[in-house]
Amino acid sequence: MKKVLVTGGAGYIGSHTVVELFNHGFIPVIVDNFSNSDERVLQGLEDILGFKPILYRSDCADYQSLKDVFQAETPDAVIHFAAFKAVGESTQQPTRYYRNNIDSLLTVLELMEEFQVRDIVFSSSCTVYGQPDELPVSETSKQKDATSPYGYTKQVCERILMDACVARPELRCVLLRYFNPIGAHPSGLIGELPFGIPNNLVPYIAQTAAGIREKLVIHGNDYQTADGTCIRDYIHVCDLAMAHVRALEWIDLQTCACEAFNLGQGQGNSVKEVIDTFISVNNVPVRFEIGPRRTGDVEQVWADATKAQRVLNWKTEKSLAAALQDTWRWQQHLSK
Ligand code: NAD
Ligand code: WQD
Repeated sequence: MKKVLVTGGAGYIGSHTVVELFNHGFIPVIVDNFSNSDERVLQGLEDILGFKPILYRSDCADYQSLKDVFQAETPDAVIHFAAFKAVGESTQQPTRYYRNNIDSLLTVLELMEEFQVRDIVFSSSCTVYGQPDELPVSETSKQKDATSPYGYTKQVCERILMDACVARPELRCVLLRYFNPIGAHPSGLIGELPFGIPNNLVPYIAQTAAGIREKLVIHGNDYQTADGTCIRDYIHVCDLAMAHVRALEWIDLQTCACEAFNLGQGQGNSVKEVIDTFISVNNVPVRFEIGPRRTGDVEQVWADATKAQRVLNWKTEKSLAAALQDTWRWQQHLSK
């Protein structure tokens, strides 16, 4: 059984990936400093798996701490989720974002070289495309300037990985560009745990439905879309987690690799459609009003995800409705 170091494995996408790794015969080893995660995820993971996963409370930008983990565990591969991810916050604290997101990747890469680990799957983002010129966005679409320091960290990290692959041809690297991850594990035992007021649409809807927020503000309904609200490609977090398993299986068959893949449904939904679907599938009211546009928002974006289907043998299995039902189950679990 292959041992996979999962940096940021106590986070939203990392924790769901830990479950899928176990389900598919891998041994995940979580490394997380809990800078943006909560102890409650550990109980949820234990309840789903039936045992406590291996966990190191370490900062993966700290060379010595991470070296101790490599020494103790001798992993076969790394999935690197650990990063700060709030777009707005990154514009307020750019140095903190560049420091954490880039240092953590560099430290991981240095230790992979030292311990002769060849395989890395990196959490990238549709944000690397900036404001897209063409829809759907494919992996070969032009990458514009990122629209935030966070987005630049993803562009820079992808570049670092590409350069590392040139220098070390034995490396096998997959860059996964997530579109908009939503939903929770169908058990309702793990999900997204945003600290403070959520920035993202679906956690905000769920907290409004739960009465934690008074009302949701739709950021603009005067866009050039059918109902005037922005369009995104929402993907269930469990589908996303499965893509990491497929990526590990695929790189294992390659002699060398440095490939990027879009991960999305391959279709878009508007903000209004997401709200309406949440209300109808969960039979719960959500108060909302129309507000002004949010600075920096792209009008519409969705993925061409056919490369992941063709090469990784991966595609989404779960619908928007299922994701929003799972979100609500998780929100109710949190409110218990
Ligand atoms: P998250 O914040 O829930 O998870 C990230 C985890 O990394 C957290 O548990 C945090 O405590 C940990 N972490 C951060 N810095 C660390 C460090 N230096 N050392 C150890 N642990 C550290 O975020 P997420 O939504 O699960 O995102 C995971 C990855 O996917 C991130 O790289 C993010 O940029 C990327 N991504 C997320 C989205 C999204 O919308 N959620 C979209 C595209 C890409
Ligand atoms: C979705 C839509 C909002 C909140 C972000 C990052 C991106 C990637 C995914 C990491 C937009 C609207 C939202 C609200 C609203 N993350 N909205 N009211 O901005 O597409 O992408 O997460 O890599 O880099 O930028 O996601 O969930 O914030 O917004 O109307 O209270 O919902 O305007 O149209 P976004 P989001």
